[in-house]
Amino acid sequence: MTIWQDLLDKAQSVQSREIADLFEKDNRAAGFSRESGPFLFDFSKTNIDAETFDLLVKLAEEKQVAARAKAMFTGAKINETEGRAVLHTALRNLDTDVFVDGENVMPEVRATYARMVDFARDVRDGKFTGQGGKITDVVNIGIGGSDLGPAMATLALAPYHDGPRCHFVSNVDGAHIHDTLAGLDPETTLVIVASKTFTTIETMTNAETAKRWMAGKVAEPAAQFAALSTSAEKTAAFGIDPSRVFGFADWVGGRYSMWGPIGLSLMIAIGPEDFADFLKGAAAMDAHFREAAFKDNLPVLLALVGIWHNQFCDYATRAVLPYDQRLARLPAYLQQLEMESNGKRVSMDGKDLPYNSGPVVWGEPGTNGQHAFYQLIHQGTRIIPCEFMVAAEGHEPDLAHQHLLLVANCLAQSEALMRGRTLDEATEIMRKKGLEGAELDRQARHRVFPGSRPSTTLLYPKLTPEVFGGIVALYEHRVFVEGVILGINSFDQWGVELGKELALALAPVLSGEDAGEGKDGSTRQLVARIRALRG
Ligand code: F6P
Repeated sequence: MTIWQDLLDKAQSVQSREIADLFEKDNRAAGFSRESGPFLFDFSKTNIDAETFDLLVKLAEEKQVAARAKAMFTGAKINETEGRAVLHTALRNLDTDVFVDGENVMPEVRATYARMVDFARDVRDGKFTGQGGKITDVVNIGIGGSDLGPAMATLALAPYHDGPRCHFVSNVDGAHIHDTLAGLDPETTLVIVASKTFTTIETMTNAETAKRWMAGKVAEPAAQFAALSTSAEKTAAFGIDPSRVFGFADWVGGRYSMWGPIGLSLMIAIGPEDFADFLKGAAAMDAHFREAAFKDNLPVLLALVGIWHNQFCDYATRAVLPYDQRLARLPAYLQQLEMESNGKRVSMDGKDLPYNSGPVVWGEPGTNGQHAFYQLIHQGTRIIPCEFMVAAEGHEPDLAHQHLLLVANCLAQSEALMRGRTLDEATEIMRKKGLEGAELDRQARHRVFPGSRPSTTLLYPKLTPEVFGGIVALYEHRVFVEGVILGINSFDQWGVELGKELALALAPVLSGEDAGEGKDGSTRQLVARIRALRG
């Protein structure tokens, strides 16, 4: 525990140090930035110094991050609580054979990928049609990892979207599917039911609703359905022809699944060529993660900065702030990726964690966030490490001046967070406005920014499919490294089970079939009021 203790001591001792002062000593910007492929990751605006950096890298070594990564990439069953391998990386490194239980899993992955490509082409070219002709709209019905990935990616890659319109329905709230289907023509709509298990109540309920909607106008509704799932029996029972079922193995975790069949809606939207570039970008990040020394390894560094802030400095949350409107769903995607993966209170061997689990992740695209919650980030009492990301260039050449303003805002925020504004500076500003005495002091204090608030910046040339694939893979591996350092299993999600079970038991209580005896007083009161209001 000595490296851990050294880092705790270090965090204590540098607590009151100004980050900005660190820049006076050496070429800090270059020393605390790293490049890989299209990415520059700048973590110089944090309180990490050379000694802390060395300790953090040693921590990653001590925790066997390299050995665990190798185990993951080569098909070992590192998801120990479910007895599964973790091989989402196999979905984007199609030329490399991988063995699970002695069997090469890649021939099947490649065959399914080829079928996806054919189907996506057929839908895009009008060879696969609905009863009313060429498919105009695709509705992906899924939730969690079967929704967030493709929904986020389809928005991110909007400039490459030249296929049918894509819609995403996730919530069991009937409003979601109602409002989505409202403007669509069943005769030219393809419904994709995306569910690894094909049992998730939200997805199956919405899928049945979509089938009924389709049946109102289409003679053979199931013919306009496709399924993405690990369960061939269940998709068959739903009535979907195996030619439109795209399967995958249990070693693809839900929140890591958009690289394979779960990405079908994205492939139909942007086309197989751009989808291949998206995989290529992720594969390049995989190679970098496997090969680069820890001190130059972007996912490892992102993880070490995260661990430093959460476990050692005790900053409970981190904000992800893409200055990229098309990454609007990235924070939500990362919430699942990070919090479902590393929100665990026991270690792999079932013991209580002696430190914090993964952090709360949240965020919004800039500049919108600036006009909402940045106030608290700048002047609140809690410190919130910020992760900025921005492209040097946008996709709209005629709006280049707006992009420049966007980038200026991004850089200004990290500068403001670090520099802050002292009481002297604030006093001077207010004195110039004519204030004096006690009122000058009072007003000046409201305008002080404490500064020394840490942030990192990920810079990339442009949000292309390749760059976007790299960003997602970067975050996936970051979560993996943090999980290894914390000694937890990042690949199960038992914490979502209890609520699901109780919801199933509550439905008959709400409908009156079950008296709900044994429920607590609060739940019974709410049920009674809801039943009375529903009449
Ligand atoms: O919320 C739990 C979870 O299992 C997620 O991990 C998963 O992404 C989501 O439900 C959807 O599951 P499925 O793809 O099996 O419908």
